[in-house]
Amino acid sequence: MNERMEQIKQEILKGIEESATSRATAFELRKKFLDSKTGEISGLMKEMRNIAPEERADFGKKVNELKEWAMNVFTELDEKMKEKELKARYESEKIDVTMPAKEFESGNLHPITQMRNQLIDVFGSMGFEIYEGTEIENDYYNFTALNIPKDHPARDMQDTFFLSPEFLLRTQTSSGQIHVMENKKPPIKILSPGKVFRSDDDATHSPMFTQMEGLVVDEKITLCDLKGMLDVFVQKIYGENTTTRLRPSYFPFTEPSVEVDVSCFECGGKGCKLCKGTGWIEILGAGVVNKKVLENCGIDSEKYSGLAFGIGIERTAMLKYGINNIKLLFESDVKVLKQISDN
Ligand code: PHE
Repeated sequence: MNERMEQIKQEILKGIEESATSRATAFELRKKFLDSKTGEISGLMKEMRNIAPEERADFGKKVNELKEWAMNVFTELDEKMKEKELKARYESEKIDVTMPAKEFESGNLHPITQMRNQLIDVFGSMGFEIYEGTEIENDYYNFTALNIPKDHPARDMQDTFFLSPEFLLRTQTSSGQIHVMENKKPPIKILSPGKVFRSDDDATHSPMFTQMEGLVVDEKITLCDLKGMLDVFVQKIYGENTTTRLRPSYFPFTEPSVEVDVSCFECGGKGCKLCKGTGWIEILGAGVVNKKVLENCGIDSEKYSGLAFGIGIERTAMLKYGINNIKLLFESDVKVLKQISDN
């Protein structure tokens, strides 16, 4: 029996050496020897009845010693395996905190959106509300109500995309003036930003572009109010020292009509390439709302008067950011757009 016990000891040591590579295999080996029912050491106890009575006490003691030894060996083995597995896990989950971080590209609003927001801020602070019209209009709102009757030569000023004899893509946000005046009684102070469409295409014109219409209708509104508002607008967008000048012009829906120039913010008025030596840059069309237009909308033109202006958002942005081709604003080249920002 002593021999068998020695043999078991050797088998355990050999088993550990040969097959205990993980906690799971070590546990299997432990079961083989120490399982309370099927384990080999427990099996030895069953031999007790074959042992002479006087040797039984000694035998029992030795089996217990063997059992204790084996338990210690396996507990130690389990600890070792646990450590080994933890180490392997740490190794596999290792991260290098000194590695350079991934760079995130931060975006910014499109220059047209930035410009639009700035204009809304400027005029919003003067009490203007936003009215967004529709891009598809009928002939009446885009032309007739704005005092541009059929066959009027002014229709040639804006090459129109007609969708049908009746419907068209609006050529100007001025159509919004009519919708507002039909639905709201004075005092009116609205700003109408949006896309407009004209069959026109070169370095400074695109078939689709954005305008911002301004309309004020109240008692005693004059050209002076227009000049005052536009002076604030150019100072906020192009700088403190800029001013505007009004030149006579013609729009069927305003009388008088003016073309508005801003004093050149590049050279301060001395004359440079940007202002073509004149010291002034044309920025928008405006005027006093034609009485006929007020009356078309059921507004008493004896009591009320109005002013209107139409700002080209692309043009305003191109001047502000020094962009020489309108296409750059529509090609969505991130490398270009990134450079056009106030931020
Ligand atoms: N609608 C005109 C245009 O597109 C601009 C404008 C608006 C002129 C309002 C006068 C008053 O050219």
